[in-house]
Amino acid sequence: MNARPLVLAAALTLSASLSAQPAEEPVLNLYSARHYQTDEALYSNFTKQTGIRINRIEAGDEQLIERLKSEGANSPADVLLIVDASRIAQADQLGLFQPVKSKVLDERIPSHLRNPQGDWFAFSSRGRILVYNKSMVKPQNVATYASLADPANKGKVCTRAGSHPYNLSLIASQIAHVGEAKAEAWAKGVVANLARKPQGGDTDQIKAVAAGECAVAISNTYYYARLLRSSKPEDQEIVAKTGVVWPDQDGAGTHINISGGGVLKHAPHRGNAIRFLEYLASDQAQVYFADGNNEWPTVKSVHVNNPALDKMGEFKADVLPIATLGSQTAAAQKIVDRVGWR
Ligand SMILES: [Fe+2]
Repeated sequence: MNARPLVLAAALTLSASLSAQPAEEPVLNLYSARHYQTDEALYSNFTKQTGIRINRIEAGDEQLIERLKSEGANSPADVLLIVDASRIAQADQLGLFQPVKSKVLDERIPSHLRNPQGDWFAFSSRGRILVYNKSMVKPQNVATYASLADPANKGKVCTRAGSHPYNLSLIASQIAHVGEAKAEAWAKGVVANLARKPQGGDTDQIKAVAAGECAVAISNTYYYARLLRSSKPEDQEIVAKTGVVWPDQDGAGTHINISGGGVLKHAPHRGNAIRFLEYLASDQAQVYFADGNNEWPTVKSVHVNNPALDKMGEFKADVLPIATLGSQTAAAQKIVDRVGWR
């Protein structure tokens, strides 16, 4: 009926062949510390949109960093996706990333959630919340991170080890807000209030709270969200016995951590790598990236339809630059060692 599409197609072919540049092979080599089911759709949609095939290696953050260190300039990897501010900072300090200048990324990812030079970008965020036992403590008595060090809460606190990156980032945020001496006094107070020796992960702390072993624990939001979304009776029981506090709502706001990544220094497919990061900032990819682990998208205009996140409610997030957290990680580790948070 109309011959125009054909003409257009011919014109496109012509201009493509005229502007022939040394093309990158349509491949992206991805090292990822993420391992969520919805990531399959995340990656296959990228391939559908761009024709770029993704080769993926999944391992823990530390393993991937070690691998990149030993591969050096011979690394086939283009992009590293990693979890936690302190680990991203570690990768950055090792010089694993290269700076990326992208209008798309600079416009879509808020400046406090990316490296100022473009070494890395955050694509989802999680909060570090307090989960409390409803029959053991009143939420107003555990309304702040400072309350964890309050002598009134002696013997009531559960956490994982202080040297875990999630806690290092939290301590780093305390250093940034109140200075090293006060942050150390706080960490010392937390240790003095522990109900038991640090052990296990965040979910273990939530379980200990539900079991009455402690009254309050520190956890990332997505661990609690997972329980909220679970249909298992034992998980529903944990949810019924516990409540969530968004700490520091009258102060700096709840400490935020991130999952994100950057283009690697020796990326053989640099163009594809930038395209992939820009894709991760797109509306559709943001939903997959965040919702897959019950997290929040970092692109402000994108909203996930996640009943667990809705249930946990609105909160004021700390807008301290994630890059600042990374710069205080070493100081945070020293504090952990000095106060014996282990
Ligand atoms: Fe985690």
